Amino acid sequence: MFKTIADPADCEVRSVIRFLNAKKVKPAEIHRQLVEIYGENVMTDGVVRKWIRQFNDGRTSVHDEARSGQPSVVNDELEEKAAKLFGKEAALFVPSGTMGNLASVMSHCWAKGQEVIVGDLSHIFIHEQGGIAQVRCFPLFIERKFKVAIK
Ligand SMILES: Cc1ncc(COP(=O)(O)O)c(C=O)c1O
Repeated sequence: MFKTIADPADCEVRSVIRFLNAKKVKPAEIHRQLVEIYGENVMTDGVVRKWIRQFNDGRTSVHDEARSGQPSVVNDELEEKAAKLFGKEAALFVPSGTMGNLASVMSHCWAKGQEVIVGDLSHIFIHEQGGIAQVRCFPLFIERKFKVAIK
């Protein structure tokens, strides 16, 4: 049995892919070995293959592309301002409504297979139950003409 490694840096995993690919280890075997040491959530088989394609096309860097250097408006200050505005302990910026709704449900349903009670007219029941069911839990509606998602 091998010793496992938790939460590796992205560049570590990419370096291992680059190394094994250079040794002509097959993509499926590289993925299998990564999962064996880093655990199931390390990287999907498809992403492993994407990195292999890039290395085969001549990529040498295992790091993310350099950012533009432009200052971002999304920073701690913005989140602190939002938290203060709504009288909350903290805030988290998300770039879309769908992502915010999903994060909210995930904060209530912390384990896969849990259920969330929503109104049959609620936005997340009508428009977003697929994503919620895929990622975490099963939305159940209990009351007709009920708009509130989570009480
Ligand atoms: C309550 C609610 N959640 C989510 C969304 C989707 O937002 P986005 O397109 O930013 O993902 C909408 C859009 O109308 C919405 O009204």
